[in-house]
Amino acid sequence: MTLKEEYLNKIDKTRLPKHIAIIMDGNGRWAKQQGKERVYGHQHGVNAVREAAEGAGEIGIKYLTLYAFSTENWNRPKEEVDALMELLVKTIHAETATLNKSKVRLMAIGDLESLPPNCYKELLEAINETSQNNGLTLVLALSYSSRWEIVNAAKKIAEQVKQGKLDVNDINDKVFAANLTTKNIPDPELLIRTSGELRISNFLLWQCAYAEFCFLEKMWPEFKREDLFSAILDFQQRERRFGKTSEQVKI
Ligand code: IPE
Ligand code: IPE
Ligand code: MG
Repeated sequence: MTLKEEYLNKIDKTRLPKHIAIIMDGNGRWAKQQGKERVYGHQHGVNAVREAAEGAGEIGIKYLTLYAFSTENWNRPKEEVDALMELLVKTIHAETATLNKSKVRLMAIGDLESLPPNCYKELLEAINETSQNNGLTLVLALSYSSRWEIVNAAKKIAEQVKQGKLDVNDINDKVFAANLTTKNIPDPELLIRTSGELRISNFLLWQCAYAEFCFLEKMWPEFKREDLFSAILDFQQRERRFGKTSEQVKI
């Protein structure tokens, strides 16, 4: 039996996380290890994106969110930012047909209008062309940061209060979540980060309130679907208590 089959056999298909989020980290270090430029790592990172998306689709995950570019990543050297944007345009363009074939619906969260115009256009087209698909929903976090998103939500809510459409006393978790870019997307139950870094880097701070974290030593370009399956297995072995006692959740 292959490792993949072994994991697939062990995973309880009735207790899958509905939403998995991944911080795809380590492209640059991986490239350096190969004696190459950082961009080489980003190019190879695309294969890992395919592995993650196909693996998620194969097992029946409903939502997969990939942190592809953070607000803070704009501060990287211009050549790297340009290369990443170019790679994004090319990849989205080349993969749209495959996404449709696999019934994947593409979505994006973040300050999308800050993307270069050709990138924004390509993204909107792919989102539009895949909008009717009912398989995996693949959410790309682009020019995304959680603090940006939370501040934006606060502004939107303040505006509704100012216009008399919302009473201050009616602001609650639900109202707040509905004003985030992830509205209509369930909170991720499982968050994976590659590259051995143990931090969240401004990603889904609100949504990860009760997510289980899984940190992998592997660099992102080395990520295989088996890694996704093994993280799901790990997730299924944890007891999620949501503030209650172990005895309460066992009932
Ligand atoms: C993740 O890999 C990809 C992006 C953030 C765009 P990095 O580019 O952060 O690679 P490291 O972490 O420097 O190795
Ligand atoms: C987080 O990775 C952002 C993405 C994976 C897109 P970074 O490499 O930018 O995070 P830090 O700087 O190491 O925290
Ligand atoms: Mg990094």
